[in-house]
Amino acid sequence: MKYNLKSTAVLNNKTTMPWFGLGTFLSEAGKITQDAVRWALTAGYRHIDTARIYNNEEDVGQAIKESGVPREEIFVTTKVWNDDQGYESTLRACDESLERLKMDYVDLYLIHWPVPGLRNETWRALIKLQEKGKARAIGVSNFMIRHLDELLAQTDVVPVVNQVEISPFIQRCALVEYCKKRGIVVESYSTMSRGKRLSDERMVAIGKKYGKTAAQVMLRWALQNEIVVIPKSVRKERIIENADIFDFEISAADMAAINAVDENCSITPASWDPETSDKWK
Ligand SMILES: NC(=O)c1ccc[n+]([C@@H]2O[C@H](COP(=O)([O-])OP(=O)(O)OC[C@H]3O[C@@H](n4cnc5c(N)ncnc54)[C@H](OP(=O)(O)O)[C@@H]3O)[C@@H](O)[C@H]2O)c1
Repeated sequence: MKYNLKSTAVLNNKTTMPWFGLGTFLSEAGKITQDAVRWALTAGYRHIDTARIYNNEEDVGQAIKESGVPREEIFVTTKVWNDDQGYESTLRACDESLERLKMDYVDLYLIHWPVPGLRNETWRALIKLQEKGKARAIGVSNFMIRHLDELLAQTDVVPVVNQVEISPFIQRCALVEYCKKRGIVVESYSTMSRGKRLSDERMVAIGKKYGKTAAQVMLRWALQNEIVVIPKSVRKERIIENADIFDFEISAADMAAINAVDENCSITPASWDPETSDKWK
């Protein structure tokens, strides 16, 4: 499969989304986030992932504005946080995010987490936001099969994306297959294990064969499985390194070896595991 930094996935509402973007969770507000976004855009990134809860939407918006790259060439995602969920409060939350971003619309608005009792109302609000043109596309995050089953039973609007933790160490194969069958693009977060498993010998050894780092192998593995990636870094050299994954192809044998690594091992705290927990506070 051939990709470049600007290659896009076609979403189920016919809009497109770059397969590769910049994550910003834990990117500190202010100059740190602004620099990261600026370096990423200079390196050719055209997709930025933020969220209300990351407290850096203003900086993402400012850096995009100052970059000189036309707004329509950049794919921006933000998300409604748990304590804003519900119909009216989600409509308000989106307006507030747009104000911070200083944008008229986001390319993708996601339900950040499947809050019990509120997630279906929140979805109705996202449909309204899409109708109003405030979100070009709408999707979900951290939805497991049971959450998607519930949602799809009460709406005709299928989420375009489900953003979930996926890395070689937690591959969620059943969920990925479920989403693909229903036209939901899978977007991975913590694809590089949030930096915690980069010395894994298997990843390092495969990387050596291609002259690549473990981080690059993990990102390329996800892309070759047709999973969107949004690696986060606030360091210029890593922002460039993470994007340098379009000049090699992991062989079928090495893909199989990485597929076999799956440990169902999340780096997200257990109390936040949407597979097992409906708690979020
Ligand atoms: N929907 C959700 O619930 C959810 C949850 C988590 C994340 N996300 C999104 O997904 C994005 C990515 O996930 P993530 O931030 O959890 O994890 P990640 O992208 O797997 O890893 C980020 C961590 O790895 C370090 N790093 C980055 N590139 C590196 C490299 N080449 N070599 C060594 N270390 C490197 C970063 O540190 P430096 O910054 O210091 O380089 C940071 O600590 C987030 O930023 C966010 O946008 C969504």
